[in-house]
Amino acid sequence: MTAKEARQLLLGQHERLRQALGELERLAKAVAAGSESAGLRARAIALGEMVRDHNLDEERLLQPILKNLDAWGPERIDRLIEHHADEHAALHRTLDEAASEELSDGRRASAVLVAVRELTEHMECEERELLAENVLRDDVITDGFCG
Ligand SMILES: [Fe+2]
Ligand SMILES: [Fe+2]
Repeated sequence: MTAKEARQLLLGQHERLRQALGELERLAKAVAAGSESAGLRARAIALGEMVRDHNLDEERLLQPILKNLDAWGPERIDRLIEHHADEHAALHRTLDEAASEELSDGRRASAVLVAVRELTEHMECEERELLAENVLRDDVITDGFCG
């Protein structure tokens, strides 16, 4: 798979994630305002699975592309990959929290809204710093990932 194909595949997954996030956000806000929870937990679990699948694809596809960039030193690439994986792990924890069995509806709604915000920020950041056409250039990338 070329870098371009990998970007397209990952950006397509981001679009599908955004749709799911939009629906989940509406539902969480309704629950926070006192509506029936209407499957919020099941949807939070489904989102968690979708995000894990996407993040696995992303790590698998981006690593060889990043490692082929001559303009970056290997240490810088390793730091970026590590930082990105750390962000994924943090997102998975947030999603696990939102799906946890023990939460009341109100607390789950809050946790879901945190997950929606964090995931949206993560995707925006990687679209700017990793997945944009012009991004894999030495002068655009910073040392950290979305630091
Ligand atoms: Fe990511
Ligand atoms: Fe992503």
